[in-house]
Amino acid sequence: MSCIIINKLTKNYGSVKAVDDITMSVRSGQVFGFLGPNGAGKSTTIKLLTTLIQPSGGSLNILGIDAVKNPLRVRHRIGVVLQQPSYEPTLTVEKSLEKYGMMWNVAKNERKIRMEKLLEDFDLVEIRKKRNEDLSIGQRRRVQVAREFMHDMDLLFLDEPTVGLDPSARRKLLDYLRNKVKSGLTIFFTTHILTEAEYLCDEIAIIDKGKILAIDTPDALKNRFGKDKTIKIHLLKNHQEVTKLLSNISDCTIDFHTGTNITIQSEQSEIVLMKILKILNDNEIEIDDLSAVPTNLEEIFLKMVEENVSNH
Ligand SMILES: Nc1ncnc2c1ncn2[C@@H]1O[C@H](COP(=O)(O)OP(=O)(O)OP(=O)(O)O)[C@@H](O)[C@H]1O
Ligand SMILES: [Mg+2]
Repeated sequence: MSCIIINKLTKNYGSVKAVDDITMSVRSGQVFGFLGPNGAGKSTTIKLLTTLIQPSGGSLNILGIDAVKNPLRVRHRIGVVLQQPSYEPTLTVEKSLEKYGMMWNVAKNERKIRMEKLLEDFDLVEIRKKRNEDLSIGQRRRVQVAREFMHDMDLLFLDEPTVGLDPSARRKLLDYLRNKVKSGLTIFFTTHILTEAEYLCDEIAIIDKGKILAIDTPDALKNRFGKDKTIKIHLLKNHQEVTKLLSNISDCTIDFHTGTNITIQSEQSEIVLMKILKILNDNEIEIDDLSAVPTNLEEIFLKMVEENVSNH
């Protein structure tokens, strides 16, 4: 079942097409990642989906509700953490959570229980009495995400929630989100950090200049766009003759930075590797190190965005 169905969605700011004719859907019970460079249209899409702004065209259905016609019904069932920091400077961490619970009409007892749990889960216990204005950027971001969990929701939108978090806080947040998804939440998540998307997301859309370039699972994206595998061979000594020996083999590059480095980049890198190993062996050239570099999402992402730029 899909909890987000977007059809020909468009948002123009003057001549800028921030979101340009997007059609897609998001299945319930997963983490959907929205990836794209600066200005791609990620935040604009989140604002449209959370009914904070009106589309210029197209339709969107959120949790079975026509979001253009019934924005308030949608807002009751979703959570959103926007990209911009938002906090009341003089409120303490615990008061911020408490206030959020009140806004969402959470009963007093329940508010207390949730607050204590969130303070623990988001490592906020020690700073619970601190005022928002005195927090570090990462701490403030953690409060901003934590308070959203004061209420129940079916769908949560997070616009770059991990910005400013250190690696351990980031990992903790991702694991926390994963657990929430296990218990039924659907998450729509934007990020620039590709390893993060790979770690957390079941499906990923790559967006640039308001257009979706690809939607798929991280593995399928790697299979579709990352067929070229890279293998590196390092020879301890500088073997200048290697250039000549391998001159008949395409798909490999050689440099002499520290010793001799041979890099194979090919769809059939294993076959190329076998040929090279044979030549090296026949010429009694010793190998110091051999490693395979797996394709990562970052290379695919850069390739797609670069191609999109050159197509314009
Ligand atoms: N309120 C606005 N008025 C005019 N132009 C806007 C407005 N909001 C966004 N834009 C433009 O729309 C485009 C998409 O912006 P958006 O904020 O959605 O990008 P983004 O993918 O979230 O980028 P980032 O990674 O930097 O957060 C940009 O060209 C931006 O300048
Ligand atoms: Mg943004």
